Amino acid sequence: VRRKPVLQRGLHSGAQTDRDTITRLLYSIGTKREVERYLRIFSSSSDSSNPAKFAVIKIGGAVLDEIEELATSLSFLYRVGLYPVVLHGAGPQLNGIIESEGIVPDYIDGIRVTDAKTLGIARRVFLEENLRLVNALEKLGTRARPITSGVFQADFLDKDKYGLVGKITKIDKRPLEAAIRAGALPILTSLAESETGQILNVNADIAAGELAKELEPLKIVFLNEKGGLFHGVTGDKLDVINLDEEYDELMRQPWVKYGTKLKLREFKELLDHLPRSSSVAVIRADMLQRELFTDSGAGTLIRRGYKLFK
Ligand code: ARG
Repeated sequence: VRRKPVLQRGLHSGAQTDRDTITRLLYSIGTKREVERYLRIFSSSSDSSNPAKFAVIKIGGAVLDEIEELATSLSFLYRVGLYPVVLHGAGPQLNGIIESEGIVPDYIDGIRVTDAKTLGIARRVFLEENLRLVNALEKLGTRARPITSGVFQADFLDKDKYGLVGKITKIDKRPLEAAIRAGALPILTSLAESETGQILNVNADIAAGELAKELEPLKIVFLNEKGGLFHGVTGDKLDVINLDEEYDELMRQPWVKYGTKLKLREFKELLDHLPRSSSVAVIRADMLQRELFTDSGAGTLIRRGYKLFK
């Protein structure tokens, strides 16, 4: 039986004590009013016919190194009855291994050039990291389901240029929804299969974007180590970016280059495809609660314009 969203759960539910403890903990990061409001908004985003509408959370490989904080943060959501779809990469772990085997990682425009040997190692590393996260969650009593194939279908992005890299053509969300209906968090790797069953490597940020376009969740969360996006000159954290008013201006700034430019372009393209109520958050794993359940947040919020929620 799927756990009901927190505010609809019966008073005699077995998970009640747990829920109370967690809710009390949440109140310690924000006011009762804000916390309850966001709990209500996020809980009502999904129901049993549309169970994957709350959030897509993308976890960079580096974030997987702080597995305890990460598992604690995700478990928190699970305990209040929220089921994000979790997608992870494993870039740094993969680089560690291929470098130790004497291969130099090769990127073109941020995309990993993937030959057969690299893909073989990537697959092993992806599966290992996936299992590590699933185990860390299960250890905390949070049910999690590894989903390591069958979701992303892809064609070759450009075989001559990138090798075994996929461009996602189709997403089967049924395995994700089935996991949530069964009461488990779906934990996805960013590998795809071609029509003929060839496994293809997919950049995890791009996969997260494609996944979000398919699921149209309220929140798309990118967990990184820095805890947000930062102004290139002042070094200040950017609190909110309203793309409608700020995008063109931002892209013209001399300090907005390479990685930041790419990210902003991706966020803009993504949010243009989603309902106006959807927004992106860039945040550190241990600050996720504060970002989601308070008005002021803790990382960087990117949205199209003002007034996200009624
Ligand atoms: N909790 C709200 C949300 O998840 C607001 C977050 C505001 N965040 C920020 N960095 N200003 O949408």
